[in-house]
Amino acid sequence: MGRRLLMLGPPGAGKGTQASRLGRAIGIPHISTGDMLRAAVDAGTELGLRAQAIMEAGELVPGDLVTAMVISRLNEADAECGYLLDGYPRNSAQADALEAAFGERALEKVLLLEAPADALVERLVKRGSEVGRSDDIEAVIRNRLVVYEEETAPLVEFYESRNMLGRVDGLGTMDEVFFRLVEVLAG
Ligand code: AP5
Repeated sequence: MGRRLLMLGPPGAGKGTQASRLGRAIGIPHISTGDMLRAAVDAGTELGLRAQAIMEAGELVPGDLVTAMVISRLNEADAECGYLLDGYPRNSAQADALEAAFGERALEKVLLLEAPADALVERLVKRGSEVGRSDDIEAVIRNRLVVYEEETAPLVEFYESRNMLGRVDGLGTMDEVFFRLVEVLAG
């Protein structure tokens, strides 16, 4: 079994950007619940139809739906050699569900990308104007940040208390952030 990692951090911190590169570098799949849900929306599946309006409002999709999707993905063959989760678990109920399914071995290290709110909003507003992701509208971005503080931020203390957390400054160039992550992982 290879590395079992979680990339944690607020919207716009660079989780997807860095997890994709890090996953390739280590040779483990990058599993992003946001990407999986957006693919379900694009494909018009039942899950996508249920998730679309919730995502466009910047709220969390019901945990049982996301947990079922993640468990099924983690049971695929390529995840046997490890994985890098991005976007899940997103609150304590999801952390408990992951542990109920796979035990404490589900995660061995959590990488927390940190950046101030004004930088996060600036990045996401820019992406909204360039790529048109439907939740990259300023009012929705601000709601995503509130949801992060209320639902996801408590996980930082949870994983810190288990000595699993590595904090990484998410400001700087993408290369700078990447090499900080590599250093924390090696340490
Ligand atoms: P999700 O896709 O996980 O969105 P998010 O957490 O809001 O994060 P983002 O993808 O916006 O940001 P990121 O931190 O990945 O940064 P990125 O690399 O993209 O979730 C979307 C929605 O799905 C949720 O709101 C929810 O509705 C639902 N969902 C997902 N998981 C769920 C779950 N477990 N339970 C319930 N619901 C769930 O970068 C952002 C931008 O910044 C990019 O344009 C990038 O190019 C740029 N950038 C990155 N790094 C840098 C840098 N160093 N300098 C300058 N710009 C940078």
